[in-house]
This record gives sequence, structure tokens and C-alpha cells, in this order.
Amino acid sequence: MSPYPDDLDRWREAARIASRAREYGLTLVVPGARRRDVADAIERFVRSEGAEPAFPTNLSRNDEAAHYSPAPDDAAEFVAGDLVKVDVGAHLDGAIADTADTVEVGGTRRYENLVRAAREAVRDGIAEVRAGASVDAVGRAVARAIRARGFKPIVDLSGHSIERYLLHAGKSVPNVPGASDARFVEGEIVAIEPFATNGVGHIGNGPFGHIQRFRADPGASDPALAALFARFRTLPFSARWVTGEEERAALKRGRRFLQTYPVFVEQGHGWVAQAEHTVLVRDDRAEVLTASATSPIP
Ligand code: CO
Repeated sequence: MSPYPDDLDRWREAARIASRAREYGLTLVVPGARRRDVADAIERFVRSEGAEPAFPTNLSRNDEAAHYSPAPDDAAEFVAGDLVKVDVGAHLDGAIADTADTVEVGGTRRYENLVRAAREAVRDGIAEVRAGASVDAVGRAVARAIRARGFKPIVDLSGHSIERYLLHAGKSVPNVPGASDARFVEGEIVAIEPFATNGVGHIGNGPFGHIQRFRADPGASDPALAALFARFRTLPFSARWVTGEEERAALKRGRRFLQTYPVFVEQGHGWVAQAEHTVLVRDDRAEVLTASATSPIP
């Protein structure tokens, strides 16, 4: 039996769409652009390509490391100098791709080295991935690349294996050494996602990031809630996608079935850069599914 997903074409196509959505999103993050409009446009692009967003577009800024997605009423605009992580997911029937990059708004170039550190870390981490290789080797390579530029890896955020309809599956891929005994398995889909910071290298929970997901099947007793579960399953979603009056009411009623995500904020209020690719573990290397012409890693 092949160790690879039998619908590998679907995973590849989802990744191609996510990669293009990431590149498109990076061009939209300019001074004066509204955060909500940028998130909506990226998600519209994903849908126009025939996929669904695998999670709400994350547009975390500055000392926000992850999990900020605009609320339905978010009117805030990006300003020159913001450091924005564009973290995008697309899925086709549950075959998920997850990818991110960082842009400094308005080309101020004060954090170029921090952005470089994250990109070099994802490249060096990916170079360690192959069937049978230790997950720890990725953490070692990632941490080395980030420290080489004088920054710190964020130790509480990790890459992760991905399975059908499961964005964060069983395996985590730490961004520091000494934190995993696992090995990569041929045919696995894994997201490698280092975060570099000029802060202390830890995150804490900030305010609600406007991302939630079903932690369990709510059952059929509430038809509106059941319809929402049928649509999102256990993947993260945004209130921006729930527009009907009745659907919104159902979400309120179903609170106990839902998990909400806080924004992760760097504990020392250092600024954070992220780079992420989804890869397929092959016997001799990682195949980078979310590479693109502008991000041809490694
Ligand atoms: Co990820």
C-alpha cells in the first residue's frame, strides 16, 4: 500500500491555490488598506479558484504572532511600518494547505533582517525533512538560522502535521531543538512554520482573535447549528463567513460546542516575522507543495 494520500493531486491543487493566495495577499497589504477588505479579498480569491479557506486569513501585526483575523466590523487600516504576517489556508474536500509570509507595510525596511531570519529558517528547516529524519533536526536548523541573525525563535509555536479536515493533526514540529522525539513518516503532510522575534521568544494569550471552530459535532437537534457544522466541520472559521441572522443566532446558542482562539502576543512585545510552507514528506526530501515563483523554497 502506498504511504501517500490517494488523492495527492487534490493536496497539490489546494497548495497551489494557497500559495497564489499568499502572494496575492502580500500585494494587498499596503498603507490605508482595510484589514477586513484584505482578508475578504484573499478568501474570495481562494473560493474563485474552486477551493475553500481552510481557516480565516490571519493578518497578525507587529507583536501579534498569530491568530488575529479581522472581525466583521473591523474598520482598521494598515499603516506604513506595520509588520504583517499573511497566513493563508485553502482546502479541497478537506485536503489542506497552510502557508505564510511576512510583509513590512509601505516598504519601510526596518525589519528586513527579521523577515529574512524567518524565511531562512523555513528554508533550512525544510532541508532537514525526509522520511525517517528526526523532527528535532528541523528545530535545530530553524533556531540556528534565526539566532544567526541575532533574533529568537518563538518556542511556544510549532509547525504541525496536517490530515484531512485536521489543520493541526498529531505531530508538532517545534522551532527549537530538544522538544521532539518524533520522526517524519513517508507520505505525511507537514507545515513548517518558524516565527522569529526581537522580543523574548515566548507568546501569551491576547484578546479574542475572531477565529473559532467546532470542537465537537453539535448533533442534529438544532438544524441551523447542524448546517454550520456540516459546512465548517472542525476547521477554524470566521464570523465574517456567517452572514445570516438565523446562522448568527445558532452560533450563539451553540457556544458550548465551539472553541475560540485568542491572539498570540509576543510576551516581551517584540515584533514577529513568520514564514510557512506545507510540504510532503518523501523518502529522500521534502516536496514543498506551497512553493511559488516568488517563494521557490528551498
Ligand atoms: Co500552520
